[in-house]
Amino acid sequence: MTQPPTVSIRPATGSDEGAGRLSRSESDRLYAQSLDDPDGFWREVAGRLDWIRPPTRIRDVSFDLSDFRIRWFDDGRLNASVNCVDRHLATRGDKTALIFEPDDAAAEAVHVTYRDLHARVCRLGNALRALGVAKGDRVTIYLPMIPDAVVAMLACARVGAIHSVVFGGFAPQSIADRVHDCASKLIITADEGLRGGKRVALKANVDAALRLPGTNSVETVLVVRHTGAAVDMQMPRDRWFDAVVEGQQAQCEPEPMDAEDPLFILYTSGSTGKPKGVLHTTGGYLTYASYTHEVVFDLRQDDVYWCTADVGWVTGHSYIVYGPLANGATSVVFEGVPHHPDVSRFWNVIDRHGVTIFYTAPTAIRALMREGDAPVKRTSRRSLRLLGTVGEPINPEAWRWYFEVVGDGRCPVVDTWWQTETGGILISPLPGDGAFKPGCATRPFFGVRPALVDAQGALIEGAAEGNLVLLDSWPGQMRTVYGDHARFLDTYFRTYPGMYFTGDGCRRDADGDYWITGRVDDVINVSGHRIGTAEVESALVSHPKVAEAAVVGFPHDIKGQGIYAYVTLKAGEAADEALRRELLLHVRQEIGPIAAPDHLQWAPGLPKTRSGKIMRRILRKIAEAGGEELAPGQLGDTSTLADPAVVETLVRDRRRG
Ligand code: WT7
Repeated sequence: MTQPPTVSIRPATGSDEGAGRLSRSESDRLYAQSLDDPDGFWREVAGRLDWIRPPTRIRDVSFDLSDFRIRWFDDGRLNASVNCVDRHLATRGDKTALIFEPDDAAAEAVHVTYRDLHARVCRLGNALRALGVAKGDRVTIYLPMIPDAVVAMLACARVGAIHSVVFGGFAPQSIADRVHDCASKLIITADEGLRGGKRVALKANVDAALRLPGTNSVETVLVVRHTGAAVDMQMPRDRWFDAVVEGQQAQCEPEPMDAEDPLFILYTSGSTGKPKGVLHTTGGYLTYASYTHEVVFDLRQDDVYWCTADVGWVTGHSYIVYGPLANGATSVVFEGVPHHPDVSRFWNVIDRHGVTIFYTAPTAIRALMREGDAPVKRTSRRSLRLLGTVGEPINPEAWRWYFEVVGDGRCPVVDTWWQTETGGILISPLPGDGAFKPGCATRPFFGVRPALVDAQGALIEGAAEGNLVLLDSWPGQMRTVYGDHARFLDTYFRTYPGMYFTGDGCRRDADGDYWITGRVDDVINVSGHRIGTAEVESALVSHPKVAEAAVVGFPHDIKGQGIYAYVTLKAGEAADEALRRELLLHVRQEIGPIAAPDHLQWAPGLPKTRSGKIMRRILRKIAEAGGEELAPGQLGDTSTLADPAVVETLVRDRRRG
């Protein structure tokens, strides 16, 4: 295997941008120390937070199924909102905590200071208590990217309620499933969202969700007035957010939380069934989010930090809200999209606010790269000193463009690998490394022990490719699947006993650096969003005309992976264009626009084994081939097919397009 050359940063002449970064030898030393003495290492790191009672028990972990436990900072007590807001008041109360950049580029940006944020979190915290929300209750948040989304999360944390943020792109059925699963008592939403000038009917979606069965745990819906659109208010269930916070005290007693008390649930797709409620707890999660945010992004007090994710995903939780705010940073909250009003939007926002650290997804980079260099080059971007990516593997070409064109070759690029389940970044280069490998997530963060295993679960040493596992815990690790601990153990710890299985494939090069190759399970990664093939299939077969469906991923230039659906109709149904459109719309309505297939092929039959198992491997090959001819043998072993003619038909139809 030949190694692609590394890329070195070219600091602007006379700049001290690199000063103060952890050097490679310092970070190597810290890594060694973190493995030698995990207790000592993490005890010290936990000291970065304000604890009501500092922990004396640091870690209590066993991945052994007969004696399973993951507990960090067990006897510590703290409140996450106090750490994200109150403790900054004395030293930086007037510092901007949030810069709100609205969807409309012509609209005024809004600065929220730590003092403002404190008052807003306290008022909402008091309002939640007044509405009967108590420690341990679940609150669903379905909001656009506006400061109130951050306020809502922190207000839940303040009163000990467990928030479940649902991405604003999800449809009523997905909201209802998530509300039902955790029996939410209250929902915080807005009249409408705005994205790229288009309105998203958030309140109407909540109304539709609450008409679906299984949602009557919800007592109250708080509605933020955002666009001012007229919405149905169903009294007494629905209350205007402004009206309930008005008149509340700007002080709110924080709920003392045990380190292992839940902080939030975030639903994510798996290879089977409905999305899982990934549960994160307070002490370990916050320690890990805050520490990784400081080290991986080389955070300084005067930084203007911008992560373009949505708070509906874990990236938004850890690296827009909890990490940056625990660190007293200035975090940009961006409501818009990269191509509105034009494709210079990101770079204009960077110039407008003097953004120094910029963190985005490969899919956005690829889409903007396609527009050429001019929309970037007509902006300054002089303020930038660090770039990051997350969500999916970044192809070296996109990496180089990001580094050379966006960063002018001056800024390190941290390609950060992690998952909803991991709470924070686990594998990434560090900014002080000096040399970077485009497309390589590189090396484990402090305390993290990655390894590769073969299909039998045997550890593979040296330069090799295999399945990525983690041999030990880190503080940000998820603790359970909400309401289904058995599913947690089955999904992550049963495949390879004694190890956490990530679901990703990975290659380790001769330097020991890690290259993530993508999911090895039935999860597809579309524009950095995780979608379970089973979820899309179940949405398709819920349509009355569909008999059977099989969904696979296929390579997509911009999205990384696209969704390819094979659909078998019930006898007598006509496979026409109108039905195709109807099915795509049906998936949008059942799950949300992000799950709509990019390609839908009619399948008179699906390739199955004699025992009736769908052979997805073959379907993937056909989808990947595009219009290309498939030579016999390219489909791999087809000897177990019950009916080979089924495959011939699919290949022929695929070529016809
Ligand atoms: C999956 C997790 C972590 C926040 C965003 C996604 C893929 C994530 C990278 C990266 C290659 C990556 C993996 C992972 N992934 N970051 N830097 N390089 N792949 O969170 O929705 O939980 O998805 O995203 O396949 O398992 P998520």
